Amino acid sequence: MDYINEIWNKLDKKLSGTAVKSFDKIPYTTINGVHDNKAQTDITWWTNGFWPALMLLMYNTTGKEVYLNTFLNGERMLDDAFKNRDWLHHDVGFMWHLSSGAHYRLTGDKLSRSRALFAADMLVARFMPKGGFIRAWNDEENLDRTGWTIIDCMMNIPLLYWASDELNVSNYRDIAMMHADMTLRDHIRPDGSVNHICIHNSAGELTETLGGQGYCQGSAWSRGQAWAIYGFAQSYTHTKAARYLDAARKTADFFIASLGDSFIPVSDFRAPKEPVIYDTTAGAIAACGMITLAGALDKEEGRAYLDTAIKIITETESRFCDWSEEEDSIVQMGSESYHGKKGQLPIIYGDYYFAEAVSLLMGFDRTN
Ligand code: GLY
Repeated sequence: MDYINEIWNKLDKKLSGTAVKSFDKIPYTTINGVHDNKAQTDITWWTNGFWPALMLLMYNTTGKEVYLNTFLNGERMLDDAFKNRDWLHHDVGFMWHLSSGAHYRLTGDKLSRSRALFAADMLVARFMPKGGFIRAWNDEENLDRTGWTIIDCMMNIPLLYWASDELNVSNYRDIAMMHADMTLRDHIRPDGSVNHICIHNSAGELTETLGGQGYCQGSAWSRGQAWAIYGFAQSYTHTKAARYLDAARKTADFFIASLGDSFIPVSDFRAPKEPVIYDTTAGAIAACGMITLAGALDKEEGRAYLDTAIKIITETESRFCDWSEEEDSIVQMGSESYHGKKGQLPIIYGDYYFAEAVSLLMGFDRTN
């Protein structure tokens, strides 16, 4: 584990610098090596919790004030998203569970608790009783998306498990579990791969599946696969329902079988061999999921998942991490979607989940 320790030191060295450089920003990616700023351009953007969450994770593990200061500034900037209620979506879990929710759990801060509970209330307001699911996105002009669910939402529902525990009521958890059960039924295929998007009719029945950010309908978008692994592993942690542990294993087994020798996932496991489009963010997320899964299993059963997570992280570090001061991001070669026009780019959740995986391998306490 010396190598993991070394990676941890590199993370702290680099991030203590960017914490100062990007104090006033909520980054999504970098442009010519410099963090962009979603606080200026799109405060309701779904990834806006990751930068403050990364700062908090580093504060939690190092105790350095520089991280806390940047976290607090990011959390304050994110408050503007609450003023744009109609632009918010199911990703309020990503946005506030990992940032304000984690801050409350670490420090007992009352305002952070309130932010996270507001987000949980927004998420339950998206629940569709017929079909028992949380709708994902808002409508677009001429596109009714009331019945749309996406696999990513498995990562939003831990906010609801926490809200139920915090308020000592069952309704948030009940909704989370109904959504997880719909995901098992409609998103997880018999071979362990997943549908990114499912469309349900007004009776809540599944009518169509879409390839979404993957290559095509029926393909296997690797980040969606990673959201499923980590989302089900977390649902198991919060509920102890064996069916969620089984789903985490099944989706992880598919991921591992598809990964190949390089331990860097391609953007879609069922895309043509060429062009090669990597998605390092999928690897980092899957690594967090596999570490969590291994922790829920006995040592022997969990070994393959833990070993794969370590290989993903060490391969990502040796091939695709940029530790230089000239580049604000760390993990390169992410992908927004298989057909995305931006191609390969660093994305903030690649850095967040990479740091989270390394912190978990170091044995630090979870913030989520
Ligand atoms: N939640 C959207 C994505 O993973 O790109």
